[in-house]
Amino acid sequence: MKAPALLLIHGFPLDHTIWDKNIEALSEVTEVLAPDLRGFGGSSTTDATTPMETFASDLMKLLDQRGLRQVIPCGLSMGGYIAMALAELAPERVAGLILCNTRSLADTEEAREGRRNTANDARTKGMHVIARAMAPKVLGATTRSTHPEMVAHIEAMIAGQGAHGTAAASLGMAERPDRTAVLRNFHKPTLVITGDEDELMPLPTSKAMAEALPNAQLVVLDKAGHLSNMEQPAAFNAAVIHFLRSHFS
Ligand code: MLT
Repeated sequence: MKAPALLLIHGFPLDHTIWDKNIEALSEVTEVLAPDLRGFGGSSTTDATTPMETFASDLMKLLDQRGLRQVIPCGLSMGGYIAMALAELAPERVAGLILCNTRSLADTEEAREGRRNTANDARTKGMHVIARAMAPKVLGATTRSTHPEMVAHIEAMIAGQGAHGTAAASLGMAERPDRTAVLRNFHKPTLVITGDEDELMPLPTSKAMAEALPNAQLVVLDKAGHLSNMEQPAAFNAAVIHFLRSHFS
């Protein structure tokens, strides 16, 4: 039996190219989809705010177009928020979940204020300001010292995103609900992945999600920060492939 297709959902404010070091290896096991979300990469938006549910319903339309009844959403950070929204809105389309460097909790009021500032900065100061501030934070200390070129690569990727899409997604993240209860009721196989050097989603956050899920396994990648799939692609791919082979073949 071939595993259901993997739906790779990128983080904020990035695009599908974050999966460049994963797609080939994962495609050996199953079909892989890695779209650009609304307002990112090759996609544009006119929304003022893009809630996670809107991203999830865009993805459902994509599945319909591809004739895919069920997939395994694999979302990183904001992509994880969207994967959880998908599991709540259309559980029948979700065969399992892979939640990477993400959290099920809603934002604090302080975090919401930060989102509004990010949206405002994107629109008024431009994406290069967001890019310069964010790029070092999304990579772990090991990657920053051993692969400084990755900081520049991420900075360029963020700077290349549209200000409007970035602002809309930032405001959308601010209004997302706590989805811990969704995880508690999700009994299908789930893999929670994080990096031991993730400064944005500390390890206890991932541990709490894995504990809330009835059927989850937690994998902590060594020397990986927030972009664990890019920073330790071989270990990330191996963890995903092991998960797929254990539960879906
Ligand atoms: C991401 O990588 O998608 C963001 O860090 C998510 C967030 O800001 O909560």
